[in-house]
Amino acid sequence: MNIAVAGTGYVGLSLAVLLSQHNHVTAVDVVPRKVDLINAHRSPIRDAEIEDFLAHRDLDLTATTDGAAAYRDADLVIIATPTNYDPQRNFFDTSHVEEVVDLVLAQSPAATMVVKSTVPVGYTARLCERHPEGTFVFSPEFLREGHALYDNLHPSRIIVGAPASEDEPRGQRMREAAQTFAGLLREGAEDQDVPTLLMRATEAEAVKLFANTYLALRVSYFNELDTYAEVRGLDTQSIIQGICLDPRIRDGYNNPSFGYGGYCLPKDTKQLLANYQDVPQNLIEAIVESNRTRKDFVAGEVIARVEELRAMGADDPVVGVYRLTMKSGSDNFRASSIQGVMKRVKAKGIPMVVYEPTLDEEEFYGSLVTHDLAAFEERCDLIIANRWSEELAPVRDKVYTRDLFRRD
Ligand SMILES: NC(=O)c1ccc[n+]([C@@H]2O[C@H](COP(=O)([O-])OP(=O)(O)OC[C@H]3O[C@@H](n4cnc5c(N)ncnc54)[C@H](O)[C@@H]3O)[C@@H](O)[C@H]2O)c1
Repeated sequence: MNIAVAGTGYVGLSLAVLLSQHNHVTAVDVVPRKVDLINAHRSPIRDAEIEDFLAHRDLDLTATTDGAAAYRDADLVIIATPTNYDPQRNFFDTSHVEEVVDLVLAQSPAATMVVKSTVPVGYTARLCERHPEGTFVFSPEFLREGHALYDNLHPSRIIVGAPASEDEPRGQRMREAAQTFAGLLREGAEDQDVPTLLMRATEAEAVKLFANTYLALRVSYFNELDTYAEVRGLDTQSIIQGICLDPRIRDGYNNPSFGYGGYCLPKDTKQLLANYQDVPQNLIEAIVESNRTRKDFVAGEVIARVEELRAMGADDPVVGVYRLTMKSGSDNFRASSIQGVMKRVKAKGIPMVVYEPTLDEEEFYGSLVTHDLAAFEERCDLIIANRWSEELAPVRDKVYTRDLFRRD
């Protein structure tokens, strides 16, 4: 099949690589640097499997900035462009999805469009009404950044939703398109018998937002447990171990942090909350609030330690930020929780220095950025780290982290 993929971020690139094992795939991006790297068999993002597949596998994959040409020849277009939530305007920006839809309809109106971007509940159905000539399906993406291709080679589940349509031949066409797409994902996967669910697009959209909100709930729950233990002087680690041996609760995703963060969880929880307009709820709002409270608490702990250092005679203690990334091994720091803590500490006029080897800027929000770890460790009186690294071992006593289990 002739497939075009719009957007070569974590979602688009992993799918482009996955599907180009068995199909002719053209990846489209508006950033020429990314396109050039892919055509040179190099990955614009850090991901071991993507790097390996691009370098060593026999893939039928090319990249281009010419979306019109790529969509003209495509039977199926996957849309994996960014969607961002603006809390000020309570508005989920889907304009990059619509840019692609308009271009596809102009070039190849018979092509199936698969929305992989995360969108509000009901979005694909509305898209379908607005464009009666188009064929749309929605498929939620569950990958983790840094393991994007791995998670598509070994998917926990494949879900594809077809919009309901009053025009039955069209509805049938979209249900068949959903089945075809699920088949393509299964064909690219290395695992056999991947659980596959076909449903309506609106339910599939809800799956994505509710799944991410559950993950945010779990992170928030163990973070609030940790806040309680810290305030009351209890050992968080023992409590979490004791709780998570219950097979109904299970281990994993229970390591305290500075808050949930990254590209998806903050925006998807807020989007789900916005979708609850006129629907009774307490919990969804509490999850969003809990993450703010956690960052306030962590910042308060940091500020209290700076005050202690001052009381012990330190002149103007400097707080170091060890990595801006959310997870160890990650190469992006979109909406990472440590930035929220940094903002709060900085608001108190406390000098800060950032150690972030992947950031090629001299400053980050007015704080000096360094790539020199030894100088950073020497210069800072206190170092905050959302995730521990053995690099910090020589200055262990200066480090404030809540990474108790030494994993994400
Ligand atoms: N990152 C994740 O872990 C993850 C997981 C599940 C779902 N999602 C969702 O998938 C979508 C994409 O996420 P991502 O992390 O891959 O984003 P990303 O920001 O890493 O990549 C998006 C790419 O789209 C490109 N782009 C923007 N407008 C374009 C256009 N008109 N035509 C072609 N390319 C265009 C950008 O240049 C960028 O390279 C978002 O809606 C996100 O919420 C992300």
